[in-house]
Amino acid sequence: MFDSIAPRYDLLNHVLSANVDRLWWRRTARRFRAVLAQPDAAVLDICCGTGDLTMALLKHRPQAARPILAADFSRAMLSRGAKKFAARKPGAPYAVALEADALHLPLRDGSMDLIVTAFGFRNLANYEAGLREFHRVLKPGGQLGILDFSEPGGLVGRAYAIYFRRVLPAIGQLVCGKAGAYNYLPVSVGNFPPPGEMLELMRKAGYAGCAWQPYTFGIAGLFTGERAAVA
Ligand SMILES: C[S@@+](CC[C@H](N)C(=O)[O-])C[C@H]1O[C@@H](n2cnc3c(N)ncnc32)[C@H](O)[C@@H]1O
Repeated sequence: MFDSIAPRYDLLNHVLSANVDRLWWRRTARRFRAVLAQPDAAVLDICCGTGDLTMALLKHRPQAARPILAADFSRAMLSRGAKKFAARKPGAPYAVALEADALHLPLRDGSMDLIVTAFGFRNLANYEAGLREFHRVLKPGGQLGILDFSEPGGLVGRAYAIYFRRVLPAIGQLVCGKAGAYNYLPVSVGNFPPPGEMLELMRKAGYAGCAWQPYTFGIAGLFTGERAAVA
């Protein structure tokens, strides 16, 4: 499905979110600036898609930093990201595109300092398995950030639900030229556990200091936690 929407993905993202998506990626990157500032930090952006979160993360990397790993299992999405990474100035911090499944990462146990993911986690076939796989790959003390949509309550929630369930799939169909191209979005957001439940899943999977920071009235939000350091 992501291969089929890849050609219009960036355009649609910016139109449908009125460019607020850029603020959310930037805010997420800022949250992890202390890790990103360490030249040797091993950083993975999983479900990186066309690489916009990776580009925001790169802004916080120092010169000669270890490259960020940007991974996704959709070749069409990933190749668009790879083009953005390749267009960076020579000598600037860079990213390497890796075709990989979030549930079976081709990475060693305890090898990463930071794993982040934006708007990809809720699409995983099994959330617990995803959290376990990230936990396996993180170093003790390594940090996790999951940016994804949420369903706010109250008046904002009701207006948002109409936009999300009716307007957005219609625009998606118009721009992509395919019936049902963006129906996945409200469906996957509806299936995603609310913040309290998601935090519980994170704790059960072995993360410490779990928290959720709502963005833009709770339309989206960032889950954070870390793999507990061994005593
Ligand atoms: C909505 S896009 C988000 C892309 C990007 N992170 C962003 O913020 O625009 C979701 C991405 O998750 C990827 N994805 C979904 N399940 C995956 C999995 N199991 N392994 C790797 N990538 C996956 C899809 O291919 C797609 O590129």
